[in-house]
Amino acid sequence: MKKDFQISYEYFKNAGELDDIEKELLDKAKQARENAYSPYSEFSVGCSVLLENGQIFTGNNQENAAFPSGLCAERTALFWISANFPEEKIKKIFVVGGPKEFSENNPPIPPCGACRQSLLEYETKQNENIDLYFSNMNDEVIKVKSIKDLLPFYFDATFL
Ligand code: THU
Repeated sequence: MKKDFQISYEYFKNAGELDDIEKELLDKAKQARENAYSPYSEFSVGCSVLLENGQIFTGNNQENAAFPSGLCAERTALFWISANFPEEKIKKIFVVGGPKEFSENNPPIPPCGACRQSLLEYETKQNENIDLYFSNMNDEVIKVKSIKDLLPFYFDATFL
């Protein structure tokens, strides 16, 4: 028996197609990207996270000479937020990434597998979806309405 997953997403050609809060999140993620510490990969990622209480926090990738000791932008932000606002729900996360020397051809950068898994953990914990946006420096944006849309056959606590 053949079965399918169906995933839909939104594509925004530029920031003009975003609403006010989405634009603010895009701007803040781009600002955060400027402070990425990525001397080894020369690939800089910034992200912004909107909480239910309206606060926005940001993160960026933090690398290390011992490569595995570094951390992606998303988890840098998520772990800090969970450490400081454990009860606050996450409404939206906006990720902007690309090579430091950005070229017109760089596509929107989706979160890596480990960041998807971490995002899924918080989405499951809060029992409410998180809107995920990812973008390039040209403000082309892709949006999915749940982390689960990027993780078919996801693994979570229900299996434990
Ligand atoms: N990176 C992120 O910050 N987020 C992702 O989801 C993808 C990858 C970072 C990790 C590393 O510092 C650099 O981008 C190149 O992989």
